[in-house]
Amino acid sequence: MREEFIKLKEFIDQEMGSRSSIQVLEAGCGSISHLHFDREIHLVGIDISKKQLQQNTDLDESILGDIQYYSFSPAIFDIVVCVDVLEHLPKPELALLNFANSAKTNGLIVLKLPNVLSLKGLATKFLPHFLHILAYRYLKSKRKSVSRSEAAPFKTYLKFSTAPNAIRRFAFQNGLSVVYFDTYDITATDWLLRKRPAHAVYRLLKAVFRFISFGHINDSEFILVLKKVANR
Ligand SMILES: C[S@@+](CC[C@H](N)C(=O)[O-])C[C@H]1O[C@@H](n2cnc3c(N)ncnc32)[C@H](O)[C@@H]1O
Repeated sequence: MREEFIKLKEFIDQEMGSRSSIQVLEAGCGSISHLHFDREIHLVGIDISKKQLQQNTDLDESILGDIQYYSFSPAIFDIVVCVDVLEHLPKPELALLNFANSAKTNGLIVLKLPNVLSLKGLATKFLPHFLHILAYRYLKSKRKSVSRSEAAPFKTYLKFSTAPNAIRRFAFQNGLSVVYFDTYDITATDWLLRKRPAHAVYRLLKAVFRFISFGHINDSEFILVLKKVANR
């Protein structure tokens, strides 16, 4: 597990305190679940892709549905986890509202996604999808099939409403508080480190962008945890 996820897991474990059994929703669960907990959990996964859901053997319950529109019962989850999904939604704020509604009071919403205000984020947002596929093929060249709907790279919108400050504003307006924030960069991932030319070019461009934006354009990934402090 990545160092950032180990730190995050420790934080979540602390927040869950003495709760022995927890209800967890993995939103856009894909085919594997990244977070594992040292307590009894009931893991519900929702994904828009039947194929991804069928491959996910971690789930206790699976829902084929769209996290922007699916109607969850209110206040049922201790934790909602959403890893690398909000960037693929045309209306991420609807999914965030859904998460806020389905989380219990004092429940957590754990988000991990690329920062649109980063070199990778801006390139992903403004370059056409076929270039994402070519870049993905080059960087993860062991993977043979890259289809449009069922396998990565999934269509990406990366709305500005998913930038960290926009999510902070959303939290403030919707009875949530930001209790955890961390960032890291894809330069620290093994597969990019193995591609030396791409790694060197990326690091150089990142340094240039960070300099000309006075530090505002920086790490490519962030983790943000929201806590539901009030019933809306
Ligand atoms: C990049 S994958 C991430 C999967 C998993 N969370 C992970 O970290 O490995 C994005 C996932 O979001 C799912 N997805 C995309 N749009 C969705 C939507 N509107 N509702 C539910 N799932 C969606 C895709 O099918 C895919 O499984």
